[in-house]
Amino acid sequence: MGDQVKLSAGGADYDYAVLKGSVGPDVVDIRKLYAQTGMFTFDPGFTSTASCESALTYIDGDEGVLLHRGYPIGQLAENSSFMEVSYLLLNGELPSKDELEKFEFTISRHTMLHEQLRTFYTGFRRDAHPMSIMCGVVGALSAFYHDSTDISDPEHRTISSHRLIAKMPTIAAMAFKYAVGQPFLYPDNDLSYTGNFLRMTFGVPAEEYEVIPEVEKAMDRIFILHADHEQNASTSTVRLAGSSGANPFACIAAGIACLWGPAHGGANEAALNMLKEIGTPDKIPHYIERAKDKNDPFRLMGFGHRVYKNYDPRATVMQKTVREVFDALKVNDPLFETALRLEELALNDPYFIEKKLFPNVDFYSGIILSAIGFPTSMFTALFALARTVGWVAQWNEMISDPGQKIGRPRQLYTGPTQRDYVPLDKR
Ligand code: CMC
Repeated sequence: MGDQVKLSAGGADYDYAVLKGSVGPDVVDIRKLYAQTGMFTFDPGFTSTASCESALTYIDGDEGVLLHRGYPIGQLAENSSFMEVSYLLLNGELPSKDELEKFEFTISRHTMLHEQLRTFYTGFRRDAHPMSIMCGVVGALSAFYHDSTDISDPEHRTISSHRLIAKMPTIAAMAFKYAVGQPFLYPDNDLSYTGNFLRMTFGVPAEEYEVIPEVEKAMDRIFILHADHEQNASTSTVRLAGSSGANPFACIAAGIACLWGPAHGGANEAALNMLKEIGTPDKIPHYIERAKDKNDPFRLMGFGHRVYKNYDPRATVMQKTVREVFDALKVNDPLFETALRLEELALNDPYFIEKKLFPNVDFYSGIILSAIGFPTSMFTALFALARTVGWVAQWNEMISDPGQKIGRPRQLYTGPTQRDYVPLDKR
C-alpha cells in the first residue's frame, strides 16, 4: 500500500491515499471524504487543490520552472516555433519534419472565416474592446461549424481544435481592423502562422506587406510564452465549461471571458498603462509606496504570481526580446528604462522580497507589443490567440479521460437557515 494520510474526525480515523505525479507535490485523494465523513474541504481560490490530472504542463513556482510535455520553456522559446509547440501540446511529442509540415498545412487550410461571420463585426461599435469582439465571435463559431461539435467523436475534437487555433489570428486581426476602420484582409497561406497574423493586422490591400523576420520571430516567441500555463483561471474555466459537455467553441469563448480580467490576461494592458502613468523613473518610489499601502487598491501590475515565488521564467525571455525588437525596428521607448528601474527598485524592497513578488510574463510584453504597433487594447486579445492551443489541448485531455465528471464544487453555506415566507403586507 502506498502512502496514506490519516484524518481524525468525530472520533473516527479515515485513511486517504497519497497520489504521486511524475514530478511535483503529491496530492491527497479525498474523493471519498464527503461520503465517509459528511464534510467538505474548504479552499477558495484553489490554493491547495489539484482540480484534475494532467500530462501537459508542469510548473515549479519555487524554482521558476515551466515545462511543456517535459521541455523547458526557455529551450522552446529559443529553438522552437509556435506551430511546433502547438503540435507538442496537442500530441505529447515534438513532431518530425514531415509531421510538422503536415500540421502547418492543416492549420493553414482552416485560417479563413465563414464569409457570413464578417458581418458580425459590423454589429459592434467601432470602439468595442477587441476582447468583447473575441468573446462574441468565438462563441458564434459554434453556429457556423456544427459539423465538428460532437465532442464524443475524437475526429470532431481534432477538427474543432484545428479550426480554433487557425481562426484565432484571423478573428483577432479583424477585431483590430474594425477598430481602425481599415478593410479586413483575407489570410495568406504562403506566410507562416505568425507572419500571416502580422500581415492581416498591419497590412493594407493597397500595398505589399513585408514581414520583418525579427518581428515575426519575436511575435512567435510571445505566442510560445503564452501557449499554456497549467490550471490557471481561464484554463480551469474552459475545463469547467467543457465538463458539462458544452461545445468547444463555447468553452473557448468562456476562457476568453475569464482571461480578460486584469488579474489574469488583462494584466499586460494594465502593466503598460501603469508604466505610462508612472512616466519617468523619478516617480517610481511614489508608486512603490502606493503598492505597499494596504489602504490603497493600487498594485504593481505585471508583478506577482499565484504560483511563481522565485521568478517567472517567461519574464526573463520577454525582457531579452524587448531589446531584440527595439534593435530590429530601430526604436527606443523610455518606458523600457522606467520598467527596468521599477523592477530593480521593487526587487530590492523588503515588501516585495518578503512576499516573493517578481515581474511576471506581462511586465515586459506590453513594451514589445507596443513597439510592434499594437494598441494596448489588443494585448489581451493576443494572449487569447496564443492561449487557445493550451485551452484546446487541456479540453481534449479532459474529454478523453474516461473518468471525467462534470465539475461541481461545493460550498460553506453562511446564509440564513430555513425560515417561513412573510407576505408583502406583513414586512
Ligand atoms: N503589488 C503589490 N502587492 C502585491 C502584488 C502586486 N502586484 N501582488 C500581490 N501583492 C501582495 C498582496 O497584497 C498580498 O499581501 P498580503 O499578504 O499582505 O495580503 C500578497 O502580496 C499575496 O497576494 P495575493 O493577491 O494574495 O496573491 P494571489 O496569488 O491571490 O494573486 C496575482 C496573484 C497575480 C493575482 C497578484 O500578484 C496580482 O494581482 N498581480 C498583479 C496583476 C498581474 O500582474 N497579473 C498577471 C499574472 S501573470 C499572467 C497570468 O497568468 O495571467
